[in-house]
Amino acid sequence: RRHLIGIAGLSPQDITELLDLAEAEVAVSRQVEKKKSVLKGRTQINLFFEASTRTQASFELAGKRLGADVMNMSVASSSVKKGETLIDTAMTLNAMRPDLLVVRHHSAGAVALLAQKVACSVVNAGDGAHEHPTQALLDALTIRRHKGRIARLVVAICGDVLHSRVARSNILLLNALGAEVRVVAPSTLLPSGIDQMGVRVFRRMDEGLKGADVVMMLRLQRERMEGAFVPSVREYFRYFGLDAAKLAHAKPDALVMHPGPMNRGVEIASEIADGPASVIEEQVEMGVAVRMAVIEHLIGLSAEGNT
Ligand code: CP
Repeated sequence: RRHLIGIAGLSPQDITELLDLAEAEVAVSRQVEKKKSVLKGRTQINLFFEASTRTQASFELAGKRLGADVMNMSVASSSVKKGETLIDTAMTLNAMRPDLLVVRHHSAGAVALLAQKVACSVVNAGDGAHEHPTQALLDALTIRRHKGRIARLVVAICGDVLHSRVARSNILLLNALGAEVRVVAPSTLLPSGIDQMGVRVFRRMDEGLKGADVVMMLRLQRERMEGAFVPSVREYFRYFGLDAAKLAHAKPDALVMHPGPMNRGVEIASEIADGPASVIEEQVEMGVAVRMAVIEHLIGLSAEGNT
């Protein structure tokens, strides 16, 4: 059984193969008849301990388009509410012999721990501030479709890097494929050790966006901040919110990305989110294709199932 816990652990070749497979899944998803039967008889369970729109919906669609039986476990109405632990919940589901568990959890490392306990494949759909590997893969697919490559592109990842598993997975993937990665954030929203992650750090948007091919905005995760460290929305937007004046520092054909959900008027102006440089909706479409590729790679006909 194989897992996808993070971009860490994937080689550049692994990443490229997944992107190539996802490219083929884009074509499937654009057909009138979207369904394949490669996962006929396989069972996928989505187990989300944190809220999600894009990731959960696209994993569900991805499994169904591959022909799997997909169950969304409703954590809010499950026995987790009676105190059942993550591992007991996972082992209970494991006893029903799924082939794949897709797990989102608020604690970094929780999905890796769970993967050691169960007999099926596990995909990390986001664990705390650690990793969100399928998000980084869908972002890379979106970039590659527009720019034809990842290598040597200048990608500026901006905003709340401290709380962002999206930033972490993207930094790992973009570095693996040879991009020049920058992070642009106030000091209070940078994790310790960022200097060791192979990025150039900027504290001003005009400097960090200069000549960028891709501007990737991050959601300000106010719910994970405490009291005095929650910046005022007006001040944050003034210095770090992406508007036309700041975007003008990037290349004229720069792509604007955001993993969602967006805080309009906080980290990004609506005119930019909905403007010609934005590929935010395309990211969502690529999310289904990438998740199809990951699932097929892990539990498709050539992979071992939970037998
Ligand atoms: N980008 C992302 O993970 O969005 P959701 O939280 O809606 O799944």
